[in-house]
Order: sequence, then structure tokens, then C-alpha cells
Amino acid sequence: MAKPKVIFVLGAPGAGKGTQCQKIVDNFGYVHLSAGDLLREERAKPDSKYGELIETYIREGKIVPVEITCSLLENAMKKSGKEKFLIDGFPRNQNNLDGWNKTLADNVKLLFVLFFDCPKEVCVDRCLGRGAAGSGRSDDNMQSLEKRFNTFTQETQPIVKYYEERGLVRNIDATKAPEDVFGRVKEVFTEVEAGGDF
Ligand code: C5P
Ligand code: MG
Repeated sequence: MAKPKVIFVLGAPGAGKGTQCQKIVDNFGYVHLSAGDLLREERAKPDSKYGELIETYIREGKIVPVEITCSLLENAMKKSGKEKFLIDGFPRNQNNLDGWNKTLADNVKLLFVLFFDCPKEVCVDRCLGRGAAGSGRSDDNMQSLEKRFNTFTQETQPIVKYYEERGLVRNIDATKAPEDVFGRVKEVFTEVEAGGDF
């Protein structure tokens, strides 16, 4: 049986990863797995061993140990019964990358990494707007955002570079309105589909 296909989706907080993933799901039939959403779901379970740990990491904008995140991703992939996945917000640091390479990497085919490129000011505005509009997220406030951006710069950007060096990154200008950004995303997917990778 063919290995499941995976596209990693990375970008700063507020770059539009979730918004664009939803559009990709609607147009190209992928399953969207957001590492952040899966962690928030796990945190919300009353019987979770990891609830408190996850909340602390999220508030502090830190990256949860990969064993937790990878097992959530693996379970979600299995449960879906599908074989085309957008894995959003992962791998976010070296620990994520190492854990992935050790456990799941050999069992899937990584197609490419979709990177949403967006300056900090735009991202911060979006996250604060989202918070004010009632996202209910404990990390859409200025204090957590500063920490999330530090983590992005110090820990996630080197991972993007790692994949860039392997020729795997598709860069998207994510400053524009969602529909315009998606116009470019569509081009990338259409191009890759034409290449027979799908
Ligand atoms: O991607 P999102 O902004 O929803 O992630 C929210 C938070 O979830 C991150 O700031 C981080 O604390 C946590 N997270 C993580 N490991 C990941 C993805 C998200 O610890 N791979
Ligand atoms: Mg998200």
C-alpha cells in the first residue's frame, strides 16, 4: 500500500495557516491536522495526563515535548482513515523534527513544506484581532505573543531553513487578504499535482 502523503504547513503565529488549510481541504481534499488544535483538544479532556503541562506550554509560547504531539498526530492520522494530510504547525523545533524523523517520517511521504511568510506586525494585528473577536485562546494576548514570536524566530525558522536546504519549501506571501493568498496556494498545488506527486 502507498504511504500516506504529508505536507507540513509552517508560518509565524497569525500568518494564516489555519485559514489557508481550510481552503486547501475544501479544494484539494486533504485532511487538516493542526498540532495546536490537537494539543488544545487534548488539554480540554478532563482525564488527560497532559492537560496542565500543555496549558503551561501554550501560555508560555513554548513547544510541547514531541512525544505528546507525535502521538496525537499519529492517532489522528489513523482515525481519519485517509491518506493525504496537511500537518499544520509542525515541526516547530529541533525536538519536533527529531521525534518525527525517529517515529513517523519513514511511514509517510513528505511532499513539501508550505511556508506562509508574513511580517510580525501583520501577524500580531491578526492575533490580537482574533483575541478581541473572541477566539477564546489563552495565547492571543500581547504577553504570550511576544513569547510565541521568540519561539518562532529562534526555534522554527531554523527548521524552515533545514527544509529549504533540501529544496522542499514552497514560500507563500501571506500578507494579503485570504482569497489573494489562496490564489497563490492554488497555483502551488496545481503545479505540484501536475508533477504527478499526488
Ligand atoms: O499553531 P498554533 O498557533 O495553534 O499553536 C499554539 C501553541 O500550541 C504554540 O504556541 C505551542 O505552545 C503549541 N504547539 C506546540 N507544538 C506544536 C504546535 C503547537 O507545542 N508543534
Ligand atoms: Mg492554527
